[in-house]
Amino acid sequence: MFALTGIGHLVTNDETVGQGKLGVLHDAALVADDAGNISWVGKQSELASHFDGKSTDVGGRAVIPGFVDSHTHLVFAGDRALEFESRMQGKPYAAGGIKTTMAATRAASDDVLAANVARLASEALASGTTTLEVKSGYGLSVRDEARSLVAAKTATSETTFLGAHVVPPETNADDYVALVQGEMLDACKGNAKWIDVFCDRGAFDVDQARAILQIGAAAGLDTRIHANQLQQGGGVQLGVELGVASCDHCTHLSQLDIDALAGASKTTVATLLPTAELCTRSPFPDARKLIDAGVTVALASDCNPGSSYTSSMPLVIALAVINMGMTCDEALWSATAGGAQALRRSDVGNLRVGSRADMVVLDATSHIHLAYRPGVQQVRAVIRGGKTVVGVV
Ligand code: NIG
Ligand code: FE
Repeated sequence: MFALTGIGHLVTNDETVGQGKLGVLHDAALVADDAGNISWVGKQSELASHFDGKSTDVGGRAVIPGFVDSHTHLVFAGDRALEFESRMQGKPYAAGGIKTTMAATRAASDDVLAANVARLASEALASGTTTLEVKSGYGLSVRDEARSLVAAKTATSETTFLGAHVVPPETNADDYVALVQGEMLDACKGNAKWIDVFCDRGAFDVDQARAILQIGAAAGLDTRIHANQLQQGGGVQLGVELGVASCDHCTHLSQLDIDALAGASKTTVATLLPTAELCTRSPFPDARKLIDAGVTVALASDCNPGSSYTSSMPLVIALAVINMGMTCDEALWSATAGGAQALRRSDVGNLRVGSRADMVVLDATSHIHLAYRPGVQQVRAVIRGGKTVVGVV
């Protein structure tokens, strides 16, 4: 058993226990059981009738659910610092850069790939991410995609097969789509929960994406899609048509795309990735317009060596508030409960009784400070499954 007390501002994401959609409680306490699940949440004054052990006082600080980063590409080798440098001098971002990382990834040993995943997962954890999705997609051969998923699985159960990231240089699109749907899917599905396709300029078209996602779903994988990152196209509407858990990026949307996402808000989340816009100097998506239309919005980091080499969910939240019209409450919800919905999980992204005891103690009096103090390290401690895994409470 474990109990936190003296929580000045507790975000539960449970409207039934606290104020608003974030379910905020002041002067709160919470208790976790030995299995690492929340067993009680409430006002500190009521703690004594639920817990009689030694508790830990957080001194009036804010406690929020651990971030759920539902979109990362952590399995790769090398970096693309020179590509970033030339982009900052005016060279536009293009999907083709993926092939640079593919070459480095294919040349790396299994140990190097797993070590890179571990390094980035621990970097993410240090900034408060307690649930992480990790994609393959830089191997682009049967062997290299399969071992990428083995590496991904060392860090998370939320693993995604993204063989359809781009067509590798040694083959053509038709042959590669057939390979992804056949031998590659067979080699990867045992270590993947999800299947994803990059449906965009320079990657895969709508028909190719539909075929790959349908065959992946028939093989037992749940579906998600990279859509409308580089230009408007049919990716978002395909995602809605197929009932994918999430359409990710959504940088360039038509009104029809927004209407489709709004109509599917219970099934399909729009996951926005503002650090990708930041690092590719692209326009930020209009999150305000999406939310006002009724779209369910999640926020994630897209951590990858090309378009967004950061794992910082606090930075993502700051950009969403400052540049995309989200309120501080909406951005926190989207980075926690929204990410959980994008992974079809209800046991993370909230601090309800029965959910995982995954939380962040902030060196701040409320979650507003995440956007108010961009770039400042405000994570005092990270607790996962009821255990302190970063910092000291
Ligand atoms: O989500 N959009 C496709 N994939 C990544 C970028 C990959 C890369 O540039 O290496 C993304 O932004
Ligand atoms: Fe991505």
